Amino acid sequence: MSAAESFLIRFHRAHPGCTSQAYAQGRIDGGGSSYDVLADCVPDDLPEEARVLDLGCGDGHLLELLVRRGWRASQLLGVDLSAQELGLARDRAALHGARLMHGRAQELDLPDASVHAVLSHLAFMLMDQPERVLAQVTRVLAPGGVFATVVGGGPKVGDAFELFIDLLLPIVRRVGAPLPRLGDRRCRTEQGLNELLGPAAGFVGLPRIQDFAVDLGGPFEAVWLNLSTMYDLYELPADALEELRTAFAAATRGLGPEPDRVPCSMFVRCARAVRQD
Ligand SMILES: C[S@@+](CC[C@H](N)C(=O)[O-])C[C@H]1O[C@@H](n2cnc3c(N)ncnc32)[C@H](O)[C@@H]1O
Repeated sequence: MSAAESFLIRFHRAHPGCTSQAYAQGRIDGGGSSYDVLADCVPDDLPEEARVLDLGCGDGHLLELLVRRGWRASQLLGVDLSAQELGLARDRAALHGARLMHGRAQELDLPDASVHAVLSHLAFMLMDQPERVLAQVTRVLAPGGVFATVVGGGPKVGDAFELFIDLLLPIVRRVGAPLPRLGDRRCRTEQGLNELLGPAAGFVGLPRIQDFAVDLGGPFEAVWLNLSTMYDLYELPADALEELRTAFAAATRGLGPEPDRVPCSMFVRCARAVRQD
């Protein structure tokens, strides 16, 4: 197991469910969450017994969304490195009957051509050896099956998330807290996703890539809670965290038109690729 994977396991043991706490409420232009963006990538015309796999399924929010859209739990599979995240997924009544596996996306314990869609929300970009992950994805996907992933983009210029990053970096440098190095940069850029999800990897043509701004704004405490459970803050000492909170509260006071709402958005990128027949 790599240092990055050990970090992810420690982090998610401490903060299980933190991603869906932040992003389930987030809204893209036109409504819906970034989880809905992925659920919309699953074709409507799949066979009755089709199966969908969520890579890095976390606490199972996306899988439960699929149940609400009419999928049976028995058609759904999830894999995650974190036992604590999986525990939350297994606690969801809607997912009783789903196959929730503790393991690595690089080593899927599934037969060839056994699923019709593989989804991954804010997880593929964290994974080591993306080529190895994709070799597993194309192996388990049936011909014509879909891989779709939502990966993180940057902050929106001029709102709270950008201010937060600007305040965080000098504090991190000053106290010498290590920033985790997670995943492969290519998974976040358009060029990198075109390289990774192209014909050489077993997909048809180039992926369809779309960017969305997710509105994560709200009362200061809610915005702080979401941002302060970012991976980059995990190794920050308590006094440095408090310093960041104070500076962030001052910087966001009066930001945006509504007095009790801090405007905070993050870009995400959705890439959708189709496996060759
Ligand atoms: C940011 S969280 C997203 C969780 C969930 N997809 C969501 O959006 O609510 C990333 C998840 O990916 C999992 N993960 C990261 N690398 C993984 C790997 N190589 N194999 C399986 N799971 C992985 C982590 O354990 C974590 O639960």
